[in-house]
Amino acid sequence: MKVIEQKAESAISYGGLIEKLEILRSTLRWASTLDRPQIQKLLGQCNALRDEVMQLSRKERFVTATASGTGARRHGTAQRRKALLERSFVFEGVFGDSPKLLDALEIAEKAAPTDLPVLIDGESGTGKELMAKVIHANGSRADKPYISVNCGAIPDNLLESELFGHKRGAFTGASADRSGKFEAADTGTIFLDEIGELPLPGQVKLLRVLQSSEIQRVGSDSAIVVDTRIVAATNKNLQQMCREGTFREDLYYRLGVIQVTLPPLRERKDEIPLLIEYFGDEAAEKLRRRPVKLSRRLRTYLLNYAYPGNIRELRNIIFRISCLASDTADFEHLPESIRPDVPELKPEGGDQEGQQLSLADTKKAASDAAERQFLERGLQEQGGKVSELARQLDMNRSHLQTLLKKHGLSSKNYRIKS
Ligand SMILES: Nc1ncnc2c1ncn2[C@@H]1O[C@H](COP(=O)(O)OP(=O)(O)O)[C@@H](O)[C@H]1O
Ligand SMILES: [Mg+2]
Repeated sequence: MKVIEQKAESAISYGGLIEKLEILRSTLRWASTLDRPQIQKLLGQCNALRDEVMQLSRKERFVTATASGTGARRHGTAQRRKALLERSFVFEGVFGDSPKLLDALEIAEKAAPTDLPVLIDGESGTGKELMAKVIHANGSRADKPYISVNCGAIPDNLLESELFGHKRGAFTGASADRSGKFEAADTGTIFLDEIGELPLPGQVKLLRVLQSSEIQRVGSDSAIVVDTRIVAATNKNLQQMCREGTFREDLYYRLGVIQVTLPPLRERKDEIPLLIEYFGDEAAEKLRRRPVKLSRRLRTYLLNYAYPGNIRELRNIIFRISCLASDTADFEHLPESIRPDVPELKPEGGDQEGQQLSLADTKKAASDAAERQFLERGLQEQGGKVSELARQLDMNRSHLQTLLKKHGLSSKNYRIKS
């Protein structure tokens, strides 16, 4: 059998080692002098060795990330962003250099290669699901199953069976034994989205999985051992729910060993231009068209809009305008609910690049943008309390409400979580 030469002086290259193992594996498969069981045994040993090498390489990346993270906060945000990219952190999307987001990404990067549970929180549309995939993709289970369950989308009475499986006859309609998502995610990651929607009995069972790595199918007494990494997400205030008795505190602490908080888009506005371009290209590819251009006033508007639905809302807007506009999108292509109140909508566009806006339109767009920023800042300062803001501005409350509506601003999004 051919033995692969290993140069003594060569530095360890994990990629090189795995490649050699692969060659060995394929040679073994066709070896004629060995019998099947021997080949099977050697193949098994190769596989184990390959897994070990992969673990080692990930551990090394983790150590590098941790070491570089120690002084991260002393570095500027642009440097921190660059460092993440240089460490080939796998991220299916774009990110800017807002400190809160970089904090979240650096925590995710360090947590990914471990098996610790991660709890991701943030408003709807901030990228929690994407982050769960990022944690899986950067972890040691990347090539193992990734199973996603939306706890808010499954009726309470079916949720436990969905997660843990059931035994035949456990309930009406359970005509056969069935495995659940935890078993499907064995050796991999399970993503429990909207974990705040999990009813209390399900919470008890989940706690048991976290404590003992065992599940019980509904209606069964025997335990099944599972090796599943748990990543959960919520847009609810779980601490508040613990105080109200609707979420178990012990489960909250078990799930949130590592907590990653995704800031709303309005707190990382530097990402808006990056996301506009990213989604513009994505939409162009999906819709088989050239990337849509934006009129200047639409661009100004989109850069300043508050996005209560966060990145998902921005993505939907870009897909919508990419579908509706021919070459250049303008206000008219926005959804009506957020379309600025411009007296006369003169569609800009046609084919001209960088078309000239009338002076009046330019002034109006700039004044709209300034008004919106002023209101957003006010809402932030007052923690979303409209009556307080009205008092501070010496303005009639209903007039203020009208202005907020005009800009698509929702006071709810500025309330401070207790
Ligand atoms: N940084 C990002 N870059 C590119 N796309 C993103 C980014 N963050 C989120 N998205 C996209 O925005 C949409 C909403 O994200 P999602 O992860 O579903 O949010 P959440 O789970 O918090 O509601 C998805 O289509 C997702 O792919
Ligand atoms: Mg989600």
